[in-house]
Amino acid sequence: MSDIKKIAVLTSGGDAPGMNSAIRAVVFAAINSGYEVVGILRGYEGLIDWEVKELTIDNVRNINNRGGTILFTSRSERFLDKKYREIAADNMREHGVDALVAVGGDGTLRGAIELRKEGVNIICIPGTIDRDMACTEYTLGFDTAANTATEAIDRIRDSSLSHGRCTVVEVMGRKRGYIALWAGMATSADAIVLPEKWDGNFDNIINALKQRHVDGRNSYLVVLAEGVTDADKLAELIQKQTGIESRVSVLGYIQRGGSPTAKDRMYGSLMGAYAVEILKNGKGNRIVAIKNDLLIDYDITEAIELNNNELDDFQYKLSLTLAE
Ligand code: F6P
Repeated sequence: MSDIKKIAVLTSGGDAPGMNSAIRAVVFAAINSGYEVVGILRGYEGLIDWEVKELTIDNVRNINNRGGTILFTSRSERFLDKKYREIAADNMREHGVDALVAVGGDGTLRGAIELRKEGVNIICIPGTIDRDMACTEYTLGFDTAANTATEAIDRIRDSSLSHGRCTVVEVMGRKRGYIALWAGMATSADAIVLPEKWDGNFDNIINALKQRHVDGRNSYLVVLAEGVTDADKLAELIQKQTGIESRVSVLGYIQRGGSPTAKDRMYGSLMGAYAVEILKNGKGNRIVAIKNDLLIDYDITEAIELNNNELDDFQYKLSLTLAE
């Protein structure tokens, strides 16, 4: 058992739908355990500047359904500097905060590992639409982002079909292709271009589109994960080599916003409550993760050392056989 009296919670990196559910669950679980809770604003930046907001049950009401993060977020450059991490750790000690719950992606986890060296007890919750953290099968926000992208691509298809065009739709994901894979499969795309699988040329895609054109198909959809190549260049290449009129749609930040799906609300709630449970059990410096659909936790340093750039192979192969 622990002797914690006060904890802090922050969100950092790209906002992700479900972060608010995690904050809410941390607040409920902490208060029900007799802890005080303080919200740190703007991620690690707020920890350095001690920009905070006391959190009570009253001020986390009606946030489960809200996108973004009520605590705001940032990608803190200053936190890369030890001097500022020392200030952050001193701020926590000075204000009697015994532990910090940080919701975010790999950058947040790396920040946590460094902050631990300054004597801070920190629990991480994986939150990023990219689903790109090797330590967990799920990251908050992915489900909402994949659904938003799917809905947007369905709409784009209507227009593409009406004009008999090919549309290259670029989706987010940083260096991972999960949003592209899921939204691409869900919208029966003709081709899905994934960073993990791209072999450096588009010959297969061009040939497949040419064949479909010959077969008399009227519209074509290519879902491209950001970071593989420039979407405009790909559309130009398709138009030049196949003769199909081509357009580009970059979905961008629409994928990060919006009301979270039930899955993101539920997982946010589970992960938030679990983070407090870890602290109650006297453990520290852990990340909450999902494995085989169950909640588990790892040491944060062990978690960052895990490396997995593979996509689920069965899902990937299926995407090839189901391409329309
Ligand atoms: O990590 C989430 C993400 O939306 C990525 O998919 C994207 O590459 C990046 O953030 C964009 O970051 P920023 O908000 O700094 O433009």
